[in-house]
Amino acid sequence: MGTVAHWPLGVAASAEPSRAGKGDGFIHLDSNENVYGPTARVAAAINSATSLVNRYPFLKYGEITERIATFHRVKPEQVLFACGSTEILRVATCAFLGTGKQLIQASPTFEDPEEYAKTTGAEVVAVPLDRKYAHDLGAMQTHVGASTGLIYICNPNNPTASITPRQDIETFLTRLPATVRVVIDEAYHDYATKSAMYSSFIDHPVDDERVIVTRTFSKVYGLAGLRLGYAVAAPKVIAEMRKFVTESSLNAIVAEVVGVALSDTDGIGEFIRRNKDDRQEFINAAGVRMLMPIDSHTNFVMMNIQHPADPVIEHFRMHKILIGRHFPPMNNYIRVSLGTADDMKAFWEAWDMIPWSKKFMHH
Ligand SMILES: Cc1ncc(COP(=O)(O)O)c(C=O)c1O
Repeated sequence: MGTVAHWPLGVAASAEPSRAGKGDGFIHLDSNENVYGPTARVAAAINSATSLVNRYPFLKYGEITERIATFHRVKPEQVLFACGSTEILRVATCAFLGTGKQLIQASPTFEDPEEYAKTTGAEVVAVPLDRKYAHDLGAMQTHVGASTGLIYICNPNNPTASITPRQDIETFLTRLPATVRVVIDEAYHDYATKSAMYSSFIDHPVDDERVIVTRTFSKVYGLAGLRLGYAVAAPKVIAEMRKFVTESSLNAIVAEVVGVALSDTDGIGEFIRRNKDDRQEFINAAGVRMLMPIDSHTNFVMMNIQHPADPVIEHFRMHKILIGRHFPPMNNYIRVSLGTADDMKAFWEAWDMIPWSKKFMHH
């Protein structure tokens, strides 16, 4: 041998996917889904809902809104659901941005608000996360001006899995003009609740018309493919956003299972526990390899691999494992969603095949 192998290695895929997954032959550690699927009770509700799909679920709209409102102890006028929280993010950009307006966000963060903001003609100001991977709210503040329409705070943040302290966000809010809207994206809320620095802006609301909180059924509820997310905000703000939502986006299956999902606290609690164990397993396996992931408050982990991410992403892909995309400017980091024990075994086996991964252990 002795020759320097082309990196990533041009090998045929060797790892057999350990589970059916999405049926596409890949192990999916790329989209921060709940690998365990919905709870058993929700799965049963989905099965019995299939007989209803020839009908529009129009009569369910009020009920869904009320169930979400009851769950959060808010008024129905404070709730807007949509086709995933992605649609809520798009709707917020439509309602509060446009040519001459400005979105302020972190870098890196979840990309959808930025992409939608640009389609409205708005300018995007991206402020690097601070050294603890929290939003640098002080720096974001300095960009706030008359044109600021929307501020996006992803908490916990995707892709870094990190938290921005609750108290800091509250202080930040008090300094903003009344006309600014702040989306606090709590997609990963359920995985973060054990941290003392974190608290939801729905569970502990601040009486502030600027705040829009978004949540989703795509993560801990295991319903990413059923597409339901929502916003909780002041009635006036919900009304402003409602104008832009796709009117008939609710699907007949998710309409039947929302109530079951929200009431299955045992099932969801079990997912949170499992995720905590899976996360610890990952940290242990990473530690053995001298890797130090960023402290995770989610169902995914980001870590510095001290080598460019792109060839590593490609290496995993060749081994039939999809990991998170490249998130500039964190060019030497990879994001890995937590999977089953078998998925993670395959992940570490593929990791150990990286030519420099052994040397890495002697850093
Ligand atoms: C932070 C964040 N917000 C929103 C979403 C979108 O979720 P959905 O449209 O499935 O509700 C995601 C998905 O990965 C996310 O990571």
